[in-house]
Amino acid sequence: MPTTPPNKTILLIGASRGLGYAMAAEYLKHGWNVLGTVRGMARTLLHDLADKSGNRVEIETVDICEPDQIAALRARLSGRVFDVLFGNAGITNNPRETIGEVTTEEFVRVMVTNALSPMRVIEALHDLVSPAGTIGVMSSGQGSVSNNMTGMREVYRGSKAALNMFMRSFAARHSTDSRAMLLMAPGWVRTDMGGPDGRLSIEESVPNLVKVLLSVQGTPGLQYLDYLGRTIPW
Ligand SMILES: NC(=O)c1ccc[n+]([C@@H]2O[C@H](COP(=O)([O-])OP(=O)(O)OC[C@H]3O[C@@H](n4cnc5c(N)ncnc54)[C@H](OP(=O)(O)O)[C@@H]3O)[C@@H](O)[C@H]2O)c1
Repeated sequence: MPTTPPNKTILLIGASRGLGYAMAAEYLKHGWNVLGTVRGMARTLLHDLADKSGNRVEIETVDICEPDQIAALRARLSGRVFDVLFGNAGITNNPRETIGEVTTEEFVRVMVTNALSPMRVIEALHDLVSPAGTIGVMSSGQGSVSNNMTGMREVYRGSKAALNMFMRSFAARHSTDSRAMLLMAPGWVRTDMGGPDGRLSIEESVPNLVKVLLSVQGTPGLQYLDYLGRTIPW
């Protein structure tokens, strides 16, 4: 059963597959409309979902690492109002590669995609989110500095810790903002990125994650939460 009234819309960045696609499907189940983005012109799972959705899914394109594409998306969405803006797009590198081993090129690729580009999306699009809305971005438990007792996934961890810091700066700059802000950790999930050894199925993570996103609506200020709504130490 839908838990929120219809006619609410999420702008979901990176919804072609994995967690982003599953979030789109889950928001539909809650009675929301979805404007999801993909990269390029290839057909994706989101297109199949749109075909079955009765016009409740719109598809836009953006590569978050291309500032011109973010600006063009902003221009195309001018005049629209969204209840949630959520940046899901992200990548990883070889998790075994230490900071001593990674090439500069690979370091830059991960940091630009996971830390700089999601913030560029938020900076460019946040004014499309209603005063009672939510601005969220997919972080990771790996982004917690306090919880890092094991190393591994060093570059990825660094990129998500940087994302957390940039989002805190954004929240500090908008300290009187009425909107909820969220850094979300989905758990280790079996997707293309998470791989087959992930602790959680998409079905164990995403419906809970969406419940958390729905529950913070109307609560101003930034929170760093996992898919069960538990606060993660910075
Ligand atoms: N899976 C996990 O265990 C886990 C745990 C913690 C956090 N996360 C985070 O959750 C998010 C989604 O992960 P996932 O497991 O669903 O990964 P995934 O299956 O690899 O999907 C990644 C998504 O990000 C999109 N993307 C990547 N680079 C992009 C770019 N430059 N511009 C636009 N879209 C881009 C991909 O689009 P294309 O289809 O075009 O490549 C795809 O939709 C990521 O931010 C990830 O860091 C995942």
